[in-house]
Amino acid sequence: MKAQLEKYFLEQYQHQPGIIVRSPGRVNIIGEHADYNNGFVLPAAIDKAAYIAISLRTDDEIHLTALDLNETFSTTVSALKPIGDISWPNYILGAAAQFLKRNIPLTGFNAVLTSDVPIGAGLSSSAAVECATVFALNHLLETNISRIEMVSMAQKAEHEYAGVMCGIMDQFASMMGQANQVIKLDCRSLTYEYVPFKLDGIKIVLLNTNVKHSLASSEYNTRRLECMEAVKMIQAHYPAVVSLRDATVEMLDQYVLPFNPIVYKRSRFVIDEMDRLNQACQFLKQDNIAELGKCMFKTHEGLSVQYEVSCKELDFLVHFVQSRKEVIGARMMGGGFGGCTINLVKEDQIDSLINSIKPAYEAAMGLPLDYYIASIQNGTEIV
Ligand code: GLA
Repeated sequence: MKAQLEKYFLEQYQHQPGIIVRSPGRVNIIGEHADYNNGFVLPAAIDKAAYIAISLRTDDEIHLTALDLNETFSTTVSALKPIGDISWPNYILGAAAQFLKRNIPLTGFNAVLTSDVPIGAGLSSSAAVECATVFALNHLLETNISRIEMVSMAQKAEHEYAGVMCGIMDQFASMMGQANQVIKLDCRSLTYEYVPFKLDGIKIVLLNTNVKHSLASSEYNTRRLECMEAVKMIQAHYPAVVSLRDATVEMLDQYVLPFNPIVYKRSRFVIDEMDRLNQACQFLKQDNIAELGKCMFKTHEGLSVQYEVSCKELDFLVHFVQSRKEVIGARMMGGGFGGCTINLVKEDQIDSLINSIKPAYEAAMGLPLDYYIASIQNGTEIV
């Protein structure tokens, strides 16, 4: 990857890149739609990543190339703004804009981007690009910004340039990941703990529905608003409740259920999911994988029925594996409406699982099924 990127950069810009940074996609074991509700999540960085080669310029021109798409885009630092359709330059431009917002003088730059994180698969391909860009520019501009602060800059890039009001999880996992560990992250305080994730004879298998729903970002933002609505309804009686992290089922039953059943379903899922994450972490620490797997199936059920962010293709995949002994746990992952399911599968039976689920899915849904065996790797780094 490095050699290919260097070669291409040289051809494109007639000089060597100043830096090449790798920043990975992520999985999340459990704790979905919890981050923007100030709860806990359990993500990890994976072996699929975005790579960006960058060098600073002496003028204020910005030249970008997406190697995989064979597309280029140019602008200037003084004209930095989100571009119309959400597309790859926004992730880079949004990240660069964060330096200006901090009054850090930004020069122009040349960049080449490549990535093997599948796009729209719920593996945070955009967070990977945002983190890689922030990290590379921080290094080249010698701004010495901490990793945690870079996480928040990358998140702002997504808010301001991609229009998705995402939580902190994806960028945190990409930037802070460590090989063979999942991150138990408290999204309220941003304190975190690495928990070893070495499951004997079990692998993380990602099954990609190949569904990319246009609903994803608008419905995501709606869910966020629905959660805030629940908080507002409770806050009228308990002013100290500032997020669903502070709310209880009793509060929801009393102050939300009678007035807004939809908002109740959404917020009830979030509170149940926060509980589930705590149980799941205990099970993981006790090596009780069977119970961890059951928690994952319950999360899927909640995401599908209460939070309503699943789709028939995701449900098909989870229901298919639910009765299979080789699958310890499975659920849809990420924002929803398409993308991948995450499955914990007995290693020696992955092939037979794929051989049966792939034709069944393709026949029933009329879409190809892709799969990846993910390993847990380090977060953002120079290559
Ligand atoms: C997307 C967002 C994250 C998180 C998940 C759902 O991946 O970017 O911040 O909210 O959805 O858990």
